Amino acid sequence: MVEKEEHVPLGMHTTFGIGGTARYFIRVGNEDSLRAAVLFVKESALPIVILGEGSNSIFKDGMIDVVIIKMELSRFEITDQNDSHVVITIGAGENWDSVVERSVALGLSGIEAMSAIPGTTGATPFQNVGAYGQEIKDTLVSLRAYDTKQNTFVEFTNTECKFGYRDSIFRSSEKGRYIITSITLELSKTAPKIPDYPGVKSYFEKKGIAEPSLREIRNAIIAIRATKLPDPKLIKNAGSFFKNPIVDTAVADALRVAHPGIVMFPAGDPLASSGQAKLSAGWLIEHAGLKGQSIGPIKVYEHNALVLTNVGNAACDELEYAAAEITKKVEEKFGVRLEQEPVFIG
Ligand code: EPU
Repeated sequence: MVEKEEHVPLGMHTTFGIGGTARYFIRVGNEDSLRAAVLFVKESALPIVILGEGSNSIFKDGMIDVVIIKMELSRFEITDQNDSHVVITIGAGENWDSVVERSVALGLSGIEAMSAIPGTTGATPFQNVGAYGQEIKDTLVSLRAYDTKQNTFVEFTNTECKFGYRDSIFRSSEKGRYIITSITLELSKTAPKIPDYPGVKSYFEKKGIAEPSLREIRNAIIAIRATKLPDPKLIKNAGSFFKNPIVDTAVADALRVAHPGIVMFPAGDPLASSGQAKLSAGWLIEHAGLKGQSIGPIKVYEHNALVLTNVGNAACDELEYAAAEITKKVEEKFGVRLEQEPVFIG
């Protein structure tokens, strides 16, 4: 018997505070109830939508004829270790930042630069979440997922996930097929390095700390993020609203000539060596004159143009309008088309 709620308002289940109501809403706390929930979805013939803490999902307005499965699977278990590394398996429903906190408290490095990212653990491989030089793909050994096509649980190795910049097979080629139930990370017992990221380096230079501890790195990231990313509990938002666009180096070179101050990503970025360059979407939006501007109830965050905020109980179509206006203005000015990061559902 599947315990389900009906006609559930979705705004409160996302950090953007936008969205209509879901036809069905099922909370899932273990693998057996996930299997039962998927069976119910198949019988109902409605589309399935997987939800964590809603920090990267935006629901459309009105009645959304879907079954939402809210992932609440918990687990944080050391499954293996040796002198230098610890392997931990983590349930998809665990709050990501609590996982980072627990790892730091255990003296384990590998995810400390991904501190204070909102959302659940199961969502991290979906778009290969990353920040300040670390991505989930760097520590992920494997993950477990439910295959809704074959009705069975399967394991994926890191390579099989085909991670890319804010991408994996779960977001692209196999979209909708698998439901991630746990991830397994290999974290290191060795001393952490300062993230190779200008803002973090200058933070420690100013404080005169040459070899920060894990805790100091976590605290630095939390402080740096707080200046650029609004706390969704106070200002509704979904983090970076657009991806940093990837363009051919020829396009990047032409942009550098036309706009000498343009910000691009480090020469060491893997994309740079494959004939492509990554541009800063925040810079493009700011230099299209949009930083701090409001488009209806949507405001481009005044401290970081990459973040859109919902300051007036926006409807989804108002957000879509604002996003389209921003995309249009950036394209008119720079000839670069922005791609949005959060997923629209409904
Ligand atoms: N910039 C501007 N104006 C702005 C914002 C940024 O000119 O309004 C320029 C600045 O030169 C700044 C540079 O862009 O130095 C980079 O900005 P930032 O360090 O904030 O990084 P980002 O590219 O804006 C990415 C991720 C973030 C992640 C940070 C740190 C994406 C889409 N976003 O942001 O991830 O926290 O790097 O690594 O890749 C997220 O995905 O939701 C997210 C917050």
